Amino acid sequence: MSAEFSSPTLSRGPRGLMLEGVALADIAARFGTPTYVYSRAALVAAFDAYRHALDGRPALVCCAVKANSNLGVLSVFAALGAGFDIVSGGELARVLAAGGRADRVVFSGAGKSRAEIRQALRAGIHCFNVESAAELDRLDALAAEAGTAAPVALRVNPDVDPRTHPYISTGLKRNKFGVAFSEALPLYRRAAALPHLRVRGIACHIGSQLLDSAPVVEAAGKVLALVDQLAAEGIRLDHIDLGGGLGIRYRDETPPTVAAYLAPLLELFGERPEELCFEPGRSLTGNAGLLLTRIEYLKPGEEKNFAIVDAAMNDLARPALYDAWHDVAAVVARDLPPRRYDIVGPICESGDFLARERNLAVEEGDLLALLSAGAYGMSMSSNYNSRPRAAEVIVDGEAAHLVRERETVESLYALERPLAQG
Ligand code: LLP
Repeated sequence: MSAEFSSPTLSRGPRGLMLEGVALADIAARFGTPTYVYSRAALVAAFDAYRHALDGRPALVCCAVKANSNLGVLSVFAALGAGFDIVSGGELARVLAAGGRADRVVFSGAGKSRAEIRQALRAGIHCFNVESAAELDRLDALAAEAGTAAPVALRVNPDVDPRTHPYISTGLKRNKFGVAFSEALPLYRRAAALPHLRVRGIACHIGSQLLDSAPVVEAAGKVLALVDQLAAEGIRLDHIDLGGGLGIRYRDETPPTVAAYLAPLLELFGERPEELCFEPGRSLTGNAGLLLTRIEYLKPGEEKNFAIVDAAMNDLARPALYDAWHDVAAVVARDLPPRRYDIVGPICESGDFLARERNLAVEEGDLLALLSAGAYGMSMSSNYNSRPRAAEVIVDGEAAHLVRERETVESLYALERPLAQG
């Protein structure tokens, strides 16, 4: 990729970095920092890439809500007719509040509670991606109680190595997700026999930040063989869900385009009638968002120079958690000799870094943008150190819309009370 930035709508102009038609400096002045900023055009373009690639065949693109669960972001996808992949009752509530359609929701996750299952049955979701025999039984019982039949897919574990970070690889036998391939057939028979289940589909998700479609094609091949085996027994599925996983460029990775990623899968599927589902997260929102932060202090040292910023690991956990790389860009370029900095936050942990060893020409008070932060950024944030979480803004052309207010300190302890002591 030759563009200066991985984000398609980020550029550098006379007023510094611009997301679409809005200067990041103006966003900081108006909303403060730290602030997550997303580009609506980039969100739409990412979704459209899936839509166009799947054009002409029955397909459903379910945005993985865990990657970015802001109502503003979800509403952009809902308006495009997206489906959603959820892993909790909380995410279902968010989808509905954002205008998403329940009948386009798939519910993944190995630990669905009774309350969450009831909530999803009431809402009338598209499908439960069931991850164990015990969950099948629970779902059947709760559907009976609700006087309905629950739509189910089994999430199978194709035991394919996705060749990604071990923390985000999910399709191997040793992972807790899905049911073993060898158990799938008997479990489908059991599901088909349970009176309050409607067997609808099959699902798999092998991992995240995949930079090549080969492992997914391998998994899909195994899944299709199973689908045909089921059909031979009279268990016919109407959708095949291949999960999420397509990676993005954070640094110098060269992930395939959405079209190139999907092409071998579409070829494999040919004229098959089943609806093809995907659950992309990172590839929809990752490069559509950045974290805007301000330098509080510059702290030169003998071994290292630190730029201490007002964002921290509670805002963006990926560097601390996965040693993940996020590009750092000074919002306004300065005519200074660059220096090498570790970008760190105010939290009392050595792991509180956002980036290491970056050459930057900056002064105290300058703004920095941590790029490719639109996925698993805000959605993984916390209040550690009693830090109110960041504001979130969506830019749309020349306009900037606040889609989440900055938290207040009072809201952090609003549900707590001092212990009354005798
Ligand atoms: N579907 C299922 C069942 C999943 O478990 C996931 C992600 C997705 C879809 C979306 O995958 P994506 O398209 O975003 O790769 N926190 C980590 C990523 C964890 C991914 C967990 N599952 C990170 O920041 O890299």
